[in-house]
Amino acid sequence: MSKTTVSLIKADIGGYPGHASVHPDLIKLAEEKLTDALKSGLLVDFKVMAAGDDLQLMMGHTKGVDNPEIHKLAWDTFVAGTNVAKELKLYGAGQDMLADAFSGNVKGMGPGIAELEFTERKGEPLVAYMMDKTEPGAFNLPIFRIFADPFNTAGLVIDPSAHAGFKFEIWDIQEHTRVFMNAPEEMYEMLALIGAKSRYVIKRVYPKESSPLPSDEAVAAISTEKLFQTAGKYVGKDDPVALVRAQSGLPALGEVLEPFAFPHLVSGWMRGSHNGPLMPVSFDNARCTRFDGPPRVIAAGFQISNARLIGPVDLFDDPGFDEARQIAGTIATYMRRHGPFEPHRLPMEDMEYTTLPDVLKKLEDRFEPIE
Ligand code: F6R
Ligand code: MG
Ligand code: MG
Repeated sequence: MSKTTVSLIKADIGGYPGHASVHPDLIKLAEEKLTDALKSGLLVDFKVMAAGDDLQLMMGHTKGVDNPEIHKLAWDTFVAGTNVAKELKLYGAGQDMLADAFSGNVKGMGPGIAELEFTERKGEPLVAYMMDKTEPGAFNLPIFRIFADPFNTAGLVIDPSAHAGFKFEIWDIQEHTRVFMNAPEEMYEMLALIGAKSRYVIKRVYPKESSPLPSDEAVAAISTEKLFQTAGKYVGKDDPVALVRAQSGLPALGEVLEPFAFPHLVSGWMRGSHNGPLMPVSFDNARCTRFDGPPRVIAAGFQISNARLIGPVDLFDDPGFDEARQIAGTIATYMRRHGPFEPHRLPMEDMEYTTLPDVLKKLEDRFEPIE
């Protein structure tokens, strides 16, 4: 049997209103485009979703990762969507469409991508996470906790097939290099890197050699396309997505969701220049309103069956996450009261907007030496 590929490709091609949500016409258009691809046999299945102002194309197929036809389909869908967005004068229409023409792969062209190719097990649970108003490093803490923290994932301690731990692929997004590290053996060294989440990001997680699962098939993948790096200047945020497989030798579904019960602080709120809590929300609440946020995450749960996407289940639509939302609200208020002060506002070098050079220029003649 051929392997299954799940591709989640997303872009902000226009917000409604402002940067709050995706207009229903864009979702409708994307569904039409992907239905055509389904009929032509390119896709086995798809789901179109939205998180904040990001349009999400989730596709089941058998073409493998980085497939030019699949990437072109996503690109063409975003191009067609951009035309609709322009006609409706949606905000920032086409903002993530950085390249003029498709060149074989959507990587580096603006959209974000998470893809997994794997041999389907008898039962294949998979969670798609979609975040808005934050950056790929926002996944470091939860992915670490899912696959390496025994206080989060009981299976690391008590499931013989998960006990060996997992292998992490970590990218240095400044230097464009990567390193593979093993947990639990190298846990402290790994944390030294991934705690610096704006530079070192977890890209993929693999089972170890001793695992019953194939050790060359990733079990988690995170989008890391940095628009800042891509365009060489700020053109919008790289709101990230991730795919995580669960159960039978992997963390259980509940262990995969558990880290989000803690609304940790992430960067990217208002003007990509503020820290705030990551709030887990239902699909219906995936609209960024308060101060263009706060940053939020949705979780879509699926069973994969011969590349069909059975779902989604709206996994954060659960009173079990009410407390996290409440705490996130309290933290949001607390952070907001700092106004323009760090650490609510990001340190200067991480800000996406700044007037500082102009302010300094204006004061140029008035700065005097201190004795
Ligand atoms: C966009 C975002 C927003 C914008 C803000 C200013 O993802 O997070 O907070 O940065 O609304 O947007 P502009 O500069 O487009 O008016
Ligand atoms: Mg936007
Ligand atoms: Mg966005």
